[in-house]
Amino acid sequence: MLKKIGVLGAGTMGHCIAESFAMHGYQVNVFEPIEEVRTTAIALIAEELSLFVQEEMLKEEDVASVLGRINFFDDLSEAMADRDYVIEAVPEKMELKQSLFKQLDDVCPAHTVIASNTSSLPLSEMTSGISEERKTRVMVCHWYNPGHIMPIAELSFFGNMSEELFNEVRDLYLSIGKQPVKVLKDIPGLIANRIQQAVAREVFSLIEMEAAAPEDIDRALMFGPAFRYATSGQLEIADFGGLDIWAIVGDNLLKEMDNRREANPLIKAKMKEGKLGVKTGEGFFSYPEDKIAGIKEKYVRKLITQLKVSKNYTG
Ligand SMILES: NC(=O)c1ccc[n+]([C@@H]2O[C@H](COP(=O)([O-])OP(=O)(O)OC[C@H]3O[C@@H](n4cnc5c(N)ncnc54)[C@H](O)[C@@H]3O)[C@@H](O)[C@H]2O)c1
Repeated sequence: MLKKIGVLGAGTMGHCIAESFAMHGYQVNVFEPIEEVRTTAIALIAEELSLFVQEEMLKEEDVASVLGRINFFDDLSEAMADRDYVIEAVPEKMELKQSLFKQLDDVCPAHTVIASNTSSLPLSEMTSGISEERKTRVMVCHWYNPGHIMPIAELSFFGNMSEELFNEVRDLYLSIGKQPVKVLKDIPGLIANRIQQAVAREVFSLIEMEAAAPEDIDRALMFGPAFRYATSGQLEIADFGGLDIWAIVGDNLLKEMDNRREANPLIKAKMKEGKLGVKTGEGFFSYPEDKIAGIKEKYVRKLITQLKVSKNYTG
């Protein structure tokens, strides 16, 4: 049984991962080397739990026990020595991940499953320096931001581990309310990010050709394809529409659409102007400083609403 959880890094993803496991009764040890990040992470988790309370997804009286299940450490060995399942969420650098996998291989018990939340690095390269025995107990477990809300968890099944062990990890993720996706090939971006980039490429291209105003393009996505995507996947939608129709429309449209193999120049031009989105106050839309907190809260509350609704059709 995978019961004792370890998380490395308490940044954007790490703190959400710890929070999600703790919310579902797991005892979580977090190793984060920077003291300031440890302090910020505790405050952030408390804030996010309080929003869950307001949204009636957590009882007020349970907040203290959720927080009590998360322990922060400044020493890796102390934090990880008795863990059953460990996931690293440290910066996306190959050497750093390789060195952590080696340290974890030494420190963790033989039965520990060691996972990476990497968005783009190959598992075989990250784990090249560890023991052959441990290689049968490593995997990618890719969360989506914000991790305490987004249900998806992409779990690798790349041929290095037994189906039995994979199922144990999948059950762990099911027990914290996630929707596990079994990924069979170690391809960059796994499944969800590739789909997202394909949509984003066309959206940025539509903006570039001034086909519609930014708010109308977003509206077309939200109330067109994405409205259906929230309840049915592309393949089910294709079956409902009829594959004959998808074949004809695909032949007619795809040759007209963007097929660039790099990020859209419009995005790069905005980057140069310092228009990075919410964090700089302007991207495609503007975010006045005095309204940013409210805008961010609305964004998160919409996701929580969607999470609640999704429970009606996912169980
Ligand atoms: N941010 C996202 O949207 C997102 C989504 C999915 C996956 N990821 C992946 O998750 C991982 C973490 O990304 P992030 O956005 O949370 O990064 P982040 O920079 O917000 O957090 C990383 C944390 O790791 C800590 N750290 C650095 N060295 C460490 C070490 N040796 N041991 C333990 N902690 C250490 C840092 O102090 C920092 O707090 C990356 O692999 C990233 O690709 C990120």
